[in-house]
Amino acid sequence: MGALERFEDDRGEGNSSHVFEAIAADVWEKGYSIQPNAVPTDVLDALWQQLRSMPAHEFDPAGVGRQHAHAINSFVRSDATSWIEGDTPAGARWLNWTAALQQYLNRRLFLGLFSFESHFSHYAPGDFYKKHLDAFKGQSNRVLSVVLYLNPDWMPDDGGELALYHGERGQQLLKVTPSMGTLVTFLSEDFPHEVLPAKRDRYAIAGWFRVNTTSAERADPPD
Ligand code: OGA
Ligand code: MN
Repeated sequence: MGALERFEDDRGEGNSSHVFEAIAADVWEKGYSIQPNAVPTDVLDALWQQLRSMPAHEFDPAGVGRQHAHAINSFVRSDATSWIEGDTPAGARWLNWTAALQQYLNRRLFLGLFSFESHFSHYAPGDFYKKHLDAFKGQSNRVLSVVLYLNPDWMPDDGGELALYHGERGQQLLKVTPSMGTLVTFLSEDFPHEVLPAKRDRYAIAGWFRVNTTSAERADPPD
């Protein structure tokens, strides 16, 4: 039984095929997708509860992390991050959901997505992440980026938007308000983006689907 079937059998998490299809159609047409309420409410609540209970020492200054995690490290950012493993109920359900999304996108768009990694991020008031790409052409196996926002009651003048650009010297496409449950998906090599400073604490999960680049010289395990 594949991840998608497993997910659909998972009582309480609903069937996300509508949102998966909307993401697939958007990515196919324009390379990005913005979906409010993408993740089942109970998964979202579990992630939020976990985040609330996490002590500050579980977050590392961004840029300090495990191998592969920072293929691009010369950009200016001031957030703190904590990798999500499958070792908490909320983390496991999130990874189950992203595995189902991965399988859906592979079937629908033949993207050949092979693995997924993600972390919580915390931006304290004033923190930012300057304009960057999550992957450079030919230099990374990150193919598709996702960002899930975990900020209940975000107000328009709280700031902290994600600004998405198109192309190297591209125009700003749009700004996304980091509201609870909004999921942004975009092709990692095609959309420079930045996180604008916020007036309050800003929480998100940032994740990347990767393709397998196993070669004779270098083994590339899925995690
Ligand atoms: C990142 C990132 C965007 C956001 O972590 O690479 O671009 O809106 N995050 O938090
Ligand atoms: Mn990014």
